[in-house]
Amino acid sequence: MKHKTSIVTGSYGAIGKAVARGLAEKGYKVVLAGRDEAKLREAAEEIIKITGNDKIEFAAVDLCRKSEVEAFAKSRNEPLHILVNNAAATPRSREETPGGIEMQFATNVLGYFWMTQYFHPFMEGLDDARIVNVASYWAGGLDLEDVETRNGIYDNDDVYRRCKQANRMLSVAFANRLKEKNISVLACHPGDVRSKLSTNLGHGGWESPAQGADTPLWCATAPELKGETGKYYEHRTEVKCRFAADEKAVEKLFAICQRY
Ligand SMILES: NC(=O)c1ccc[n+]([C@@H]2O[C@H](COP(=O)([O-])OP(=O)(O)OC[C@H]3O[C@@H](n4cnc5c(N)ncnc54)[C@H](OP(=O)(O)O)[C@@H]3O)[C@@H](O)[C@H]2O)c1
Repeated sequence: MKHKTSIVTGSYGAIGKAVARGLAEKGYKVVLAGRDEAKLREAAEEIIKITGNDKIEFAAVDLCRKSEVEAFAKSRNEPLHILVNNAAATPRSREETPGGIEMQFATNVLGYFWMTQYFHPFMEGLDDARIVNVASYWAGGLDLEDVETRNGIYDNDDVYRRCKQANRMLSVAFANRLKEKNISVLACHPGDVRSKLSTNLGHGGWESPAQGADTPLWCATAPELKGETGKYYEHRTEVKCRFAADEKAVEKLFAICQRY
């Protein structure tokens, strides 16, 4: 295949690296995005060695900072076929970004939002461009009056669930907006994989990173999903998303995110 380009965020993490490897195996050029340059380089070298695909690049970007996402986008100048929003953080105690935004909301929600905003222009006019938002079935409890959990006690698992609900809602909001530009936006649960993120939450995990990457990769590349948008999948199966039905809430969340 003539090289098509993809970006995977959180790409030296458990699931992200397996997604990046899977895309490399399918012949895509893969841009690994993450915040630690040494870990990015190591992951790129590993993927090149295993797959034999030498079209692996990396970009150091802290996704909880809008200015860094914008600078990342400005550094790119080629069409983008696949964007996998995957990076997420689950600090055990409440943290804020240098800009004063609660860390999980900034990384897990706004990170996806800004990546989509800044990168979708590179996807316009392509035959089959897809944005895959790695979300979770572990989702719920979002309070649109307090998206940064400023009130009450910080519990990293509760905050994480709210963020994953937001990922699913914003997938629908972007799907509606990007449909006319022929860009698909799909959300999925990956697998339950032991990682820094899941260990912080006390969840552990029993699936391999490759198993965890299977549904995100399928969403990104399966020919049978061409043209599908706004849908949510678990284990390669569409699941009706209970959060997507509340159109007013979806639009309210989108408007909230736009203000950051
Ligand atoms: N593991 C599971 O069982 C499970 C289940 C459902 C959904 N998910 C979803 O799957 C995705 C991947 O999770 P994972 O389990 O693979 O976790 P992981 O191994 O901890 O990977 C998360 C990645 O995100 C990166 N990241 C965090 N904050 C960042 C920032 N500000 N800027 C750039 N990169 C940042 C991390 O980099 P650092 O190491 O530098 O922090 C790491 O590479 C997440 O969206 C998660 O919600 C996972």
